[in-house]
Amino acid sequence: MLKVLLAGLGVRGRHWARVIQDSTRAELVGIVDPAAAALERARDAFGPLPAFESVFAALAALDDVDALVLANPPIGRQSIVEAACARELPMLIEKPLALDLGEAARLVRIAEARGVSLMVGLNFRYLAVTQAMMRLLADEVVGRAEFARFTYERWRDGRLAELNDYPLVMQHPMLWEQSIHHFDLMRYVYGQAPVRVQCQTWNPSWSLYRHDSNVAALIKFDGGLRVNYQGTWQGNWAAPGFEWRSDCSLGIITQREQFGGLYYARRDDRQLTRVSLPPHERWISETRALFAAFVDHVVDGAELQCSGRDHLMSLAMLQACIESSATGSGVEIDDVLPRG
Ligand SMILES: NC(=O)c1ccc[n+]([C@@H]2O[C@H](COP(=O)([O-])OP(=O)(O)OC[C@H]3O[C@@H](n4cnc5c(N)ncnc54)[C@H](O)[C@@H]3O)[C@@H](O)[C@H]2O)c1
Repeated sequence: MLKVLLAGLGVRGRHWARVIQDSTRAELVGIVDPAAAALERARDAFGPLPAFESVFAALAALDDVDALVLANPPIGRQSIVEAACARELPMLIEKPLALDLGEAARLVRIAEARGVSLMVGLNFRYLAVTQAMMRLLADEVVGRAEFARFTYERWRDGRLAELNDYPLVMQHPMLWEQSIHHFDLMRYVYGQAPVRVQCQTWNPSWSLYRHDSNVAALIKFDGGLRVNYQGTWQGNWAAPGFEWRSDCSLGIITQREQFGGLYYARRDDRQLTRVSLPPHERWISETRALFAAFVDHVVDGAELQCSGRDHLMSLAMLQACIESSATGSGVEIDDVLPRG
């Protein structure tokens, strides 16, 4: 049994507590949150676990810990990463690793220097729909993807109690908190590296967010693929809109819901063909699969997936979007990727 310390017991941390406790290969040995109310709520829901107000206090008190799952907001994580590395604890850290590319690169270097594994919580890779889309592309069921349109429209009321509230006041909330998943999915599913980004970000007049909640980007990949991306957290209809359509040499693949809804068609087909997918519990099923990959790595020595080093490439796409929007010019990914 992998003995796991969980830090950060907000919206996401509560998913993690459930997933770790339900795992047959792991045990939740302690919980951490500086907010007493969060600790109390977690103990009510998940049992009388040893509870601490900081990772440092937990590590000082607990001898028997094998790994850290970190689900605090992505701010000020360096001292926590250093403390985990000093104990050689593999880490599974929620996305985005940091709200600054240079800071994220520093965290990756700290872990690499100590030879400690750092996995990033990119759960959308583990959705059945994502895996099925990858199979359609790998099998070239409708040929090779040449261009795509990725649309994500959501009215995200950041004031709701069941949502985290720090995005209301941060810079570029849409990019760092949401588009990071979408950019990571593009790299993962197409297996191509981003080369160049042209982007504008802005805020609609009715926005609840202090900074830009709209992102429009044209992204070019090294295999020649171009993706037209439009994401918003302030789409002005409460019903969500999602479509990720890939135009391929023989037809299209289209995903029409965030957690499912996969179809394809050859050019002259009159109707879309639905791809059958297994039942899914949102935020839980795919997090279980992500956690299983972490346990397989730590316990069985399987290859590390979603490494911090790999994540830097998706963060570089965000950084390129920010610079492109500020300057009005296209930005090369190579020009923003940290060296070393
Ligand atoms: N992968 C996903 O699908 C997904 C979904 C939601 C959130 N997230 C990510 O999870 C992280 C947390 O988001 P959230 O929605 O749970 O936020 P939240 O604001 O709901 O909860 C964060 C919790 O962390 C606690 N905290 C603050 N500083 C801490 C510290 N130093 N040590 C331990 N705990 C600390 C806070 O008191 C709070 O209880 C973010 O990185 C976010 O982007 C990921």
